[in-house]
Amino acid sequence: MLTIAVSKGRIYEDALPLLAEAGITPIDDPLTCRKLILRTTRDDVQLVIIRATDVPTFVEYGAADMGIAGKDILLEHGAESLYEPLDLNIACCRLMTAAHKDAPPIAGRVRVATKYVKITQRYFAGLGIQAEIIKLYGSMELAPLVGLSDCIVDLVDTGNTLKANDLEPRDLIMNISSRLVVNKAAMKMKHQAIQTLLDQFEKTLAKRG
Ligand code: ATP
Ligand code: PRP
Ligand code: MG
Repeated sequence: MLTIAVSKGRIYEDALPLLAEAGITPIDDPLTCRKLILRTTRDDVQLVIIRATDVPTFVEYGAADMGIAGKDILLEHGAESLYEPLDLNIACCRLMTAAHKDAPPIAGRVRVATKYVKITQRYFAGLGIQAEIIKLYGSMELAPLVGLSDCIVDLVDTGNTLKANDLEPRDLIMNISSRLVVNKAAMKMKHQAIQTLLDQFEKTLAKRG
């Protein structure tokens, strides 16, 4: 049995067509059923539905053989113990700094609200800017509006969330997409099955161009 970890929401939605090309279609819909283990149209493959931030943990411990996770999550988690064989090119966005549209440039000593503490620390240290980091779990865009921080580090796609809150994107930290990650032991023990699946994903991605 191959177990693949995916998070509900945009990664699940974007991963469905890719999985379908490999003959993997979940039998239950995670939106309407409360099951966390989903059987699929392939007897040898099941999906586990977990929070996006938990995907590296499940795969690292071998609780899932493979998983799909954003590069943001992988970098923040520190996923050196995982194989990352494929960029799936889904859930694409940018990790950026952002601030109030009337705020001065980010410099000197700054307070930054983010859920990406490690990435943010590294980024500002690299610029020689002294940053006090405030860890949040969501709604980062609110922080500068209520005086909690000078700026934020968060994901930006259309920019609509920033705009709706009178913020503007400032600097690009990195482009983000979702990656396929594989447990190292599983890669050895289940090599044939995993390699076949990787080849199928790769073929679909190549077709997409
Ligand atoms: P949770 O809702 O459980 O707190 P989450 O907010 O991290 O988790 P998602 O919003 O589904 O879950 O994000 C999953 C991944 O999708 C992120 O790690 C990132 O790589 C990517 N992503 C997040 N927001 C966007 C967006 N607006 N556009 C495109 N991709 C995004
Ligand atoms: C993500 C991200 C931003 C927003 C950016 O939030 O944290 O707030 O998308 O996308 P945009 O530039 O297209 O507006 P998400 O929609 O995932 O909400 P949540 O994580 O707070 O539930
Ligand atoms: Mg989100």
